[in-house]
Amino acid sequence: MSLSVREGEFLTLLGPSGCGKTTLLRMIAGFEWPTSGEIAIGGKRMNEAAPYARPIGMVFQNLALFPHLSVGENVAYGLKARRVDRRQIEHEVTQALAMLGLAGFERRYVHELSGGQKQRIALARALVIRPKVLLLDEPLSALDMKLRRQLQRELKQIQQQVGTTFIFVTHDQEEALTMSDRIAVFSRGRIEQVGTPREVYGQPATPFVAQFVGESNFMIGVVMGREGDVFTIRLDPTGQVVPVRSATSFDVGSRVGLSVRPEQLALGGEQGAYFEGRVSDLFYVGANTRYTIEAADQAFIALQPSTQGGHAGWRPGDTVRISWPLDGAALVPADEHAAHAR
Ligand SMILES: Nc1ncnc2c1ncn2[C@@H]1O[C@H](COP(=O)(O)OP(=O)(O)OP(=O)(O)O)[C@@H](O)[C@H]1O
Ligand SMILES: [Mg+2]
Repeated sequence: MSLSVREGEFLTLLGPSGCGKTTLLRMIAGFEWPTSGEIAIGGKRMNEAAPYARPIGMVFQNLALFPHLSVGENVAYGLKARRVDRRQIEHEVTQALAMLGLAGFERRYVHELSGGQKQRIALARALVIRPKVLLLDEPLSALDMKLRRQLQRELKQIQQQVGTTFIFVTHDQEEALTMSDRIAVFSRGRIEQVGTPREVYGQPATPFVAQFVGESNFMIGVVMGREGDVFTIRLDPTGQVVPVRSATSFDVGSRVGLSVRPEQLALGGEQGAYFEGRVSDLFYVGANTRYTIEAADQAFIALQPSTQGGHAGWRPGDTVRISWPLDGAALVPADEHAAHAR
């Protein structure tokens, strides 16, 4: 892989369990040694540098707070190791704890903290040494939804406040989309795409990205023709022909993946519908209703506003027609990854 991260950027590594996110962080931090290639920070080669000699802070997947040390001592740890003088350490620790909303917690022990407080202490401990780069390995994954959302916001604010480069790992695509300046999508040790949340969601570069980032109705087809930026695709297995506008170009005759987001799927249009299907399942999720529709040998997911101009919605067993707008689908090259995608 090859990846450059900009100074001050919030970059997220997103990928399924076991794809190599932690391994990459450990190599950047110096706990793991690459067999080949180069790791540079600020243009300086780091391959041979010991972990403590790298301008890096790390928040580990399991936090790794020291249970036998107080909160104050935990946060002070990196500064002590760097032989900062005692008064300065006290001052820095007080400041770091205040920034994370934990002023006065110095004397507590780790077992006297809640999950969210532990998270903040781990963050304070990593930030207090003022690293150039902060590596965060799924720091929020153990927290319940509400606290997680709150800490996502805090983390983003802190990052903007301190201006440190953040490399953040998650396998939660929603977390990646809301927090990142850019996302690097990983699969099986490879980077599939690097882009802004909008790019990765709206113009996925591979079938894997289309299916891993957000939900997607994914189809395979062949490019039959092209007029300007509108491509005609014949879909497997029905042979249904659909037009798709795409900024990325594809040769006539090539196989492509076609990804339609659930919110782009239109139900009930009489004219120009591509498939007819049967509603097999629905979930009411407040403002939206999430339908599963069996059509053309696959299960389509459609997200529809719960009240559409007074339409009460469909019920299981109803027959509905499916279509999507010309701009509602993204084309991606179909390749061997397709078989491995979720
Ligand atoms: N010390 C090790 N020796 C050999 N293989 C390892 C070692 N550590 C991890 N692996 C393997 O390397 C692969 C990547 O592991 P890694 O921990 O980087 O995944 P991850 O993307 O962080 O996953 P998760 O989201 O579950 O934390 C996995 O297949 C894992 O089994
Ligand atoms: Mg991991």
